[in-house]
Amino acid sequence: MTDRFSFHLLGTDGGARRGEIRLPRGAIRTPAFMPVGTAGTVKAMYPDQVRALGADIILGNTYHLMLRPGAERVARLGGLHVFANWPHPILTDSGGFQVMSLAQLRKLDETGVTFQSHVDGSRHVLTPERSVEIQLLLDSDIIMQLDECVRLPAEEAEVARAMRLSLRWAERSKRAFGERPDRAIFGIVQGGDVAHLRIESARELAAMDFPGYSVGGLAVGEPQAVMLAMLETTNPVLPADKPRYLMGVGTPDDIIESVARGIDMFDCVMPTRAGRHGLAYTRFGKINLKNARHAEDSRPLDEASDCPAARDYSRAYLHHLFKTDEMLGAMLLSWNNLAYYQALMAGIRAAIDERRFEDFRRTTKEGWERGDL
Ligand code: GUN
Repeated sequence: MTDRFSFHLLGTDGGARRGEIRLPRGAIRTPAFMPVGTAGTVKAMYPDQVRALGADIILGNTYHLMLRPGAERVARLGGLHVFANWPHPILTDSGGFQVMSLAQLRKLDETGVTFQSHVDGSRHVLTPERSVEIQLLLDSDIIMQLDECVRLPAEEAEVARAMRLSLRWAERSKRAFGERPDRAIFGIVQGGDVAHLRIESARELAAMDFPGYSVGGLAVGEPQAVMLAMLETTNPVLPADKPRYLMGVGTPDDIIESVARGIDMFDCVMPTRAGRHGLAYTRFGKINLKNARHAEDSRPLDEASDCPAARDYSRAYLHHLFKTDEMLGAMLLSWNNLAYYQALMAGIRAAIDERRFEDFRRTTKEGWERGDL
């Protein structure tokens, strides 16, 4: 055990990196996928189930938790780990991104962002300092700076403005965080789809010497090729001895391709959200269980899977659960999908360890393309 945050690069295979983040609450094997627990719950999953799938860390959201139940209340109840019965590491997003997608009547200036809650219309202010304070009240292990993420396509001048504002907020966030060796704050690279802005952002953040770096503002409407090009531009500028987290990404293919370009951490609502809507991720690609072709298919999703949700229920039964809007459908597919994502990450890590990542990348993609029919 350790009383400090640290990152250890254990090996590389081409551009792919194998590492470990150490924190007082436990180690995070990287490349890592962090299940999203927006409101203090990975939807439709028990914490023990999430852990058993191999998740070392989950994500929580400042925006949702500050509105309900409130950061001060979570702190009085012992912090988010106690409140949510997840004793392992938690990373929290800073709120800016969610304000932009969810809140009403937003007003953003140098100070921060003022907005109305999507829940009850109440007025709130998020500054870099308040966002850090909230994340510390939640007792988050890995804190994000407040940033502004621009949706693409956008004018270069607008991307540049938001990126430079995010740099000034990075400094304020880091100052507000202070010296806390038992946890970490990450700076967030912005700069849209403009290579020189990405480089400027990464350079300036690297000079501020953060314990880790996030890459934000991607998977926001641009083609995958643009996202990957931005990673190729950004990653060489970031210090090799610090973890790199690609925010809000992505599909299994996005993850493999981003690992190939040196990303260490991911989070995405996709496995759980898609699961609630009847979409299963498998070795054979995606399967839409709502489709009538599954109505009499007695095969499980994947008989070779370690996950009971993939193995012990027929596609016909899953189809029925979604047709009748039964809760168990969402529970089983969330379980299956997170199991698939965590198995993918375990496969990636083993492949890098054994220096056969290229082979793993190729055979995994072949499996998705081949399908199972
Ligand atoms: N989640 C996905 N993208 C982003 C981003 O650019 N910034 C933040 N704070 N969170 C994100």
